[in-house]
Amino acid sequence: MNHQQDDKESPLTIAPADARNLPTQSMYQNRVADYWNAEENPVNLELGKLDDLYHHHYGIGAADRSVLDEPDPVLRRERITAELHRLEHAQAELLAARLGPLSPADRVFDAGCGRGGGSVVANLRYGCHADGVTISAKQAAFANEQARKRGIDGKVRYHHRNMLDTGFETGAYAASWNNESTMYVELELLFAEHARLLRRGGRYVVVTGCYNDTYGRASREVSLINAHYICDIHPRSEYFRAMARNRLVPVHVQDLTADTIPYWELRREAEHLVTGIEDTFLSAYKNGSFQYLMIVADRV
Ligand SMILES: C[S@@+](CC[C@H](N)C(=O)[O-])C[C@H]1O[C@@H](n2cnc3c(N)ncnc32)[C@H](O)[C@@H]1O
Repeated sequence: MNHQQDDKESPLTIAPADARNLPTQSMYQNRVADYWNAEENPVNLELGKLDDLYHHHYGIGAADRSVLDEPDPVLRRERITAELHRLEHAQAELLAARLGPLSPADRVFDAGCGRGGGSVVANLRYGCHADGVTISAKQAAFANEQARKRGIDGKVRYHHRNMLDTGFETGAYAASWNNESTMYVELELLFAEHARLLRRGGRYVVVTGCYNDTYGRASREVSLINAHYICDIHPRSEYFRAMARNRLVPVHVQDLTADTIPYWELRREAEHLVTGIEDTFLSAYKNGSFQYLMIVADRV
């Protein structure tokens, strides 16, 4: 046996010959992708079907609770579904309004895009180009099909990629956002990618649930939410720390906690849509351990 062969067979080799074939996703990210590839919750699909705007985030604003008094059971369901969709759409519009001003020539990056609603909302508002990225191949295919049906596939594209490492062009984006998708990743890595993609003066917006530093550590409810979604909710302070380290300077911070409670109070009564996590969210918001936050930042 010669030495060359010895080296090849050594169990101590730290860079195996097939290293280049290792998946670019971590095992955790594979589990997150599995979750979203399998996800078919009525609260995500039934609401989206109403106008083909698929939002996988929560709602904000005063809820019309009169829908609960509808005597006809079929109509009651339909009215609750439509009301929850209206509140979710209001959240998407709130976020999109903060991205501008943008022109149709501008390009935006939708990090953790789900089934694509946020990029469509941005395109409808500004006429801009959008690149949505999701770790779920199924979501990306679904969203691309929706864009094709709307006839906006020339401008709005969805990609099955990791938002931490998109491979997109440096400085090519006028705005970018995360709508309820930051709890799946390390913020330092995420904001470094946003800072790379955004041009100087570009706008970044995040809407997220975060745990409240004044409460202490993550509460029981926050831990239950983490287990439910296979995620890891960050403390509020970590957002500002990681932004400061990555050339993102907050220009507007809005606590949306009180604004989202009516959505959750209506959703918990929607027996055809509940996922079982509704009471946990309400307890977390009401005991002060959890906040629903929007941070708007400039890329400097
Ligand atoms: C709660 S959904 C939000 C979807 C969308 N932003 C919306 O508002 O409808 C979370 C999304 O984050 C995506 N995601 C999680 N980790 C990701 C990663 N590392 N790269 C890209 N997408 C990721 C999931 O695939 C999913 O689409």
